[in-house]
Amino acid sequence: MEIVNSKAKLQALLSGAKGNKSIGLTPTMGNLHSGHLKLVDAAVKECDIVVCSIFVNPTQFGPDEDLANYPRTLEADKEKLYSADCDILFLPTIAEMYGDNLNSETTIHVPGVSANYCGKSRPGHFDGVATIVCKLLNIVQPTISYFGLKDYQQFLVINKLVDDLRLPVKVVGIETEREPSGLAKSSRNNYLDSNQLDLAAGLYATLQWAAGQLQIPLCNFIAIEKSATNRLNQLGLTVDYFSICHSNSLLPASQKDCELTILAAVFLGKTRLIDNIHVRL
Ligand code: PAF
Repeated sequence: MEIVNSKAKLQALLSGAKGNKSIGLTPTMGNLHSGHLKLVDAAVKECDIVVCSIFVNPTQFGPDEDLANYPRTLEADKEKLYSADCDILFLPTIAEMYGDNLNSETTIHVPGVSANYCGKSRPGHFDGVATIVCKLLNIVQPTISYFGLKDYQQFLVINKLVDDLRLPVKVVGIETEREPSGLAKSSRNNYLDSNQLDLAAGLYATLQWAAGQLQIPLCNFIAIEKSATNRLNQLGLTVDYFSICHSNSLLPASQKDCELTILAAVFLGKTRLIDNIHVRL
């Protein structure tokens, strides 16, 4: 595996591939777990050259969020990527991605799907995500880019970004990896102690319960959201949102919709966890 820090070196490495080999990109912020490695595995299966980027993107963190504490485990990440047969690890610096002044840069805002849920609770978050993903796609010019479906709203934001800006890349979503307890794998699980890890499993259990309720004919969506919120609060999880949405628009679901997604975000202490479940009616 080649490790490169600069766009110029990365592009030199990829120059021979352009036009005759497929390139797979897995953008990450590091602290790789089996969820990330599933993205890399998919890229290895489908593409000739696999690039993984590790960049803890400052513009997607709010001022009171965990940018400084975000887990950074580069040596372990490199080992995992070697074993996963990744070809190139792109490890840019902040200056490489943003220049000298983060605040004077062009920012991409994806309207609509970014407005609510994490977009409302984390102002500016999706602008930061869209901007860095657009930069990475422009630098690597992959054939396919892979994203985890745990961040389902992010996945839709990136799809709209690619569609609206006519970026020549296929976006693929990869199913969420889970602990045996059902807890979605996430770098932020590192912040939880063992008691909190047990409680956190209640998030997916509640999503599954709500998904079951949705199968009952003429069920009341608002009542299900409220009961799920109460269940989570009783477990000691503070609910940011628990919303039954239309899977593509993320608008509140209506009785006519057949493809639903329940999006949820909770706090356990200071740690914010998100998860979702799809329901086909
Ligand atoms: O999902 C993530 O890890 C990040 O939001 C991403 C897509 C790598 C952009 O920084």
